[in-house]
Amino acid sequence: MEQTFIMIKPDGVQRGLVRLPKLFSLYLLFTFTYYVSDCVKLTGFLVHCDYLRFSSCLKLITVDRAFAEKHYADLSAKPFFNGLVEYIVSGPVVAMVLEGKGVVTTGRKIIGATNPLESAPGTIRGDYAVDIGRNIIHRSDAVESARKEIALWFPEGIAEWQSNLHSWIY
Ligand code: TYD
Repeated sequence: MEQTFIMIKPDGVQRGLVRLPKLFSLYLLFTFTYYVSDCVKLTGFLVHCDYLRFSSCLKLITVDRAFAEKHYADLSAKPFFNGLVEYIVSGPVVAMVLEGKGVVTTGRKIIGATNPLESAPGTIRGDYAVDIGRNIIHRSDAVESARKEIALWFPEGIAEWQSNLHSWIY
């Protein structure tokens, strides 16, 4: 099953668009950004998580400069690189893995264009952001980069779990 890496950036967390997982609730799918959880439901994607070991697939984490530079290594020559790294290390982010058929492409569509002003209404960036430097959420741009990003952000691996639902509901 295809996987993608999603990160709610520090501004998304600081603006209260993310609610912390209810640690002892019975829900397997934690409530975080209501929009993100809506889009997860709408598209049928699972937040790839195990109730008992959720930290291996969805976590609130503050990264340091070296880590952020590694995540955005492809952009190291860009003039905005330094500001981008400072933004990512400025506070906690919520990192997660979603999986499902075509999730990389659909994740891109749901999240919208890099510049929120060019993101269509109905996309996460289009609805919730206006500044390219504060576009609240990251998604992998391709299957190969998703693989690298998941390995970087979840070196401990992804929790494996078996759904009790029918196999075609994912
Ligand atoms: P990029 O990987 O090009 O976009 P995306 O996140 O949509 O895949 O750029 C990474 C981040 O860098 C982007 O989310 C916001 C920031 N950025 C700027 O701050 N200024 C810019 O001109 C660009 C292109 C990106």
